[in-house]
Amino acid sequence: MEPSTQVSMKNRTGLQMSPVQSKEMLETVEGIEGLPNPPEGTGTAMAEMRLEYINEADPLGTVPAPASAKGMVKTGAKMLTGNRPQVFMDKLAERCAFERGGTRLYDGLLTKFRARHDGGTAKPRKGNATEAISQTRLVEIRDQEMQHFQLLADCIEQMGGDPTAQTPSADTVGVQTMGLIQTISDPRTTLTQSLHAALAAELIDVAGWELLAELADGMGQKEMAKRFREALQHENEHLRSIRSWYESSVLQESGSAARAKA
Ligand SMILES: [Fe+2]
Ligand SMILES: [Fe+2]
Repeated sequence: MEPSTQVSMKNRTGLQMSPVQSKEMLETVEGIEGLPNPPEGTGTAMAEMRLEYINEADPLGTVPAPASAKGMVKTGAKMLTGNRPQVFMDKLAERCAFERGGTRLYDGLLTKFRARHDGGTAKPRKGNATEAISQTRLVEIRDQEMQHFQLLADCIEQMGGDPTAQTPSADTVGVQTMGLIQTISDPRTTLTQSLHAALAAELIDVAGWELLAELADGMGQKEMAKRFREALQHENEHLRSIRSWYESSVLQESGSAARAKA
């Protein structure tokens, strides 16, 4: 596997590369009133401006009313019992958006794998039960993300909702996953750097399905809760695979894995 880290004199990003100018810059900064350590709680001009925007902002969006008459009746009945089914719908839509993003993320990871990885397999860490990074396993994980997306689209319809509608939480995860997908799609990133993005996605996946199963229980949706826990089991397996590949890659690159072998 190609190294993620190479030493080069071309990297001049650190302050220490230019001692004279950095000293001048620090002197200027120290001369500004209130800097460099503004007392906590006393907002800077930037924080003040942000506060203004937050106070005046509209909400990110709304949860659409159920599209079908059946859904309308179900939602109304739940609301009478004190439940707020719109929270459940919002979280179903959030997970649906995340799983759709997850499928794209693995499509990108597979391309990165093909581009960066020759030979098809990486050596597993010695003394660890990690599997080798395999294209077959990556395809399996990608397909499971896709199945999860389809499961959620079905559940949203079952609840009388429209799986193509955008909700506030679906909107926020769309923004969050953008950075992860961008990392993997960047032609310059290595497979190890791309695995780190996948690791972040899988950690969110596990927490997301745990919460969704609990919400389904609370809504009396026992069958959905059962299916969500099956998805959670897949996600825990995804997390194990990605984490072990990522850790093996970093340890191998650092030389620690070689020392452990000796
Ligand atoms: Fe997932
Ligand atoms: Fe996953």
